[in-house]
Amino acid sequence: MVETNAESSPLPSLAVLISGRGSNMMAIADACERGELPAHIALVISNRPDAKGLEHAQDKGLTTDVIDHKAYASRQLFDQALHDRLCKAQPRWIVLAGFMRILTPEFVNQWEGKILNIHPSLLPKHPGLDTHKKAIESGDTEAGASVHIVTPELDAGPVIAQVRVPVLNDDTAETLGKRVLAKEHQLFIDALKICLSRDSAGR
Ligand code: GRF
Repeated sequence: MVETNAESSPLPSLAVLISGRGSNMMAIADACERGELPAHIALVISNRPDAKGLEHAQDKGLTTDVIDHKAYASRQLFDQALHDRLCKAQPRWIVLAGFMRILTPEFVNQWEGKILNIHPSLLPKHPGLDTHKKAIESGDTEAGASVHIVTPELDAGPVIAQVRVPVLNDDTAETLGKRVLAKEHQLFIDALKICLSRDSAGR
C-alpha cells in the first residue's frame, strides 16, 4: 500500500476502484480538489498492479492499494479481501470507475446502496461489455453513459444520471467510445453530487 494522504477529513469519503487508465477517478479527484465535489478520496484500489491510474493517483498524493485478483483462487476470496480492506477505510461511497470485475452478490449485499458504477451505455440498453459496438450494430442514433447504484444483477441497478451523445454515420466503436468518455467525467461528478446531496437531506 502507498499511503501518502491519510489524514482524516470531515467530508464524506470515497473509495475509488479502478482497473486501468483511471481517467474517471482523476476527474473525481480533481473535482474534490477544486471543491466542486464535497467529498474526499480516502483510497484508490486497483485489482491490477499495472493499472496506469495507480500512478496518476499516487502523483496526486492519494492513498492507493492493490488487491490483485490473480492472487485469489476464487471470486469469493477476492471479494472477501476487498471487503476487508474497505471495512478498514469505511467509505461512504464505493465508486467503481472502470473497475472491470464482476462483484459477487454477497459483496454487493454487504455494501447495499453504497456502490456506484459508471457504465458506457444508456442503460437499460447494452449492459455488459462492448457497449459502443452494440450501439452501432443496433442502429442506435444515440449512445451515452449511465451512473447507477450497483445491485447484484449486472448493470441493472437504479440509474442516478445519464449523458447522451449522438451516434454519427461514420462512427466506429473507438470514435464513439472517445466521445462518450469525454462526457463521462462530468457525468460521474454530477451523479456523485446528487448522491451526496441526498445523503445530506437524509434520503
Ligand atoms: C469507462 O468508459 C467506463 O464507463 C467503463 O470503463 C471505462 C473506464 O475508463 N466502465 P477510465 O479508466 O476511467 O479512464
